[in-house]
Amino acid sequence: MKARHWILAGLLLWLGGSGGAADGLPTYYDAVAPILNTHCVGCHTEGGIAPFPLDSAEWAVKMAPAIASAVAEGRMPPWPPGEASPKMRGERRLSPEAIATLVSWAKAGAPLGEAKNPTLTPNKSVARTPDLVAAMPRAYTPDSRLYDDYRCFLLDTGLERDTFVQGYRIQPGQSQLVHHVILFVIGPEAVQRARAQDGADGRPGWQCFGGPSLGAGTGSLGNALGFWVPGTQGTDYPPGTGKEIKAGSRIVMQVHYNLSAPAHPDQTRLELFFADPASQPKSIRRMILAAPVEVRCPPGVSGEACGRAFALERSELKRVADGIHLLCGTTLEDYLRRDIGDGSHQETHCDFSVREDGVALGVLAHMHLRGKALRISLNPGTPGEKVLLDIPRWDFHWQGEYWFEEPIALRQGDRVRISCVYDNAEAIPGPDGRPLEPRYLTWGEGTTDEMCLGGISWVK
Ligand code: HEC
Repeated sequence: MKARHWILAGLLLWLGGSGGAADGLPTYYDAVAPILNTHCVGCHTEGGIAPFPLDSAEWAVKMAPAIASAVAEGRMPPWPPGEASPKMRGERRLSPEAIATLVSWAKAGAPLGEAKNPTLTPNKSVARTPDLVAAMPRAYTPDSRLYDDYRCFLLDTGLERDTFVQGYRIQPGQSQLVHHVILFVIGPEAVQRARAQDGADGRPGWQCFGGPSLGAGTGSLGNALGFWVPGTQGTDYPPGTGKEIKAGSRIVMQVHYNLSAPAHPDQTRLELFFADPASQPKSIRRMILAAPVEVRCPPGVSGEACGRAFALERSELKRVADGIHLLCGTTLEDYLRRDIGDGSHQETHCDFSVREDGVALGVLAHMHLRGKALRISLNPGTPGEKVLLDIPRWDFHWQGEYWFEEPIALRQGDRVRISCVYDNAEAIPGPDGRPLEPRYLTWGEGTTDEMCLGGISWVK
């Protein structure tokens, strides 16, 4: 890894790191601070989600080698969609020139240059008054025995008539801990179940991982209002559109707390902005994409946990596992017959056909901890193939929904393929810090289950 990094760094250097002092070398004040301020300090600030700040010369210099390797290897800023994806709104991607600048600056020993007060980019969002604010009903202190605590909270949104949401903001209570938030809309039938779970273990909310854990048919990602990750405020749906929430529905907010910082009571808040019904917003629909998950243990690893029955027994969504085969025209045998090599690259896919003409505005994708890569494409295998989302290196912590810069036309009869790749070769760190050994993976919401789920947000 190291060697590769320096080869890459050398290459970038040779390509010409520019934008700096008279001798051609970039300095902190001239060239580096503006990049860090624009692309990094949103998270790398005192009290932010990142483990150290990058908003001062002192820290930037101290972290220079780490900065160079993180940007050269594409780990930072976190932005999962790869080059093959269409251009997305709010892309957090550094230009090759910016990467070259940071790398050559670090290699030159991180010179400061002539001191200037680097101007921080102003916060572009204009404060608006939300139409509805719903906070977690009580503060929750994440479980400090865990590395990652996934917790669901039923928000009292009290929406008694059909409402069009135009956008939302998340205000994390503890921004060092709150690593992602998923908002699920649940129908009236699931609200009772949510109430029963809420607080059942003596603490606010209930434990949940890949979904709201309220049983099959509830609050799947198909009904997700949205995702939030640090470094953003929230989402505004494309102009003239909105997401309709039916009367009597409620919002379940799933919060992922990462406990690399000390646990403190958190009371994260959701702010909703409604569309004016008179403006007749177009209702955002979601075409759901899913592929079977039949991921086997690597060769040489066996035992009860490597059996499908064991996995199904523990899944809350057992019926989904078989249902998706019906939907995709596949059988379990198709998967069991395959040669999986060393188990580190197990692919699955499924095709769907577009039922009516429309316009695609965005995409979302969801896998769990064993996910390795994911792709959603329109008309695969034809000359007109268009990739809608390509995530070459899946990272559960940075999953989300993406909105295209340019809407993409959908025609009745178009094919859409979702394909997911899993790595089930070795043990990986689990949320409680203990290793998760390979086991059979099938559909479920747990940390040892998987999903291959995507969606296309579109309007008629
Ligand atoms: C959206 C939030 C976010 C943004 C934007 C961001 N970081 Fe980070 N950064 C993190 C978090 C969180 C971590 C802790 C490790 C992790 O969770 O991936 C981290 C870790 C790091 C690390 C140490 C770990 C590693 O992978 O090397 C470096 C170095 C780093 N960031 C540099 C940067 C630089 C340079 C930028 C801007 C070009 C940047 N980050 C932008 C959130 C962010």
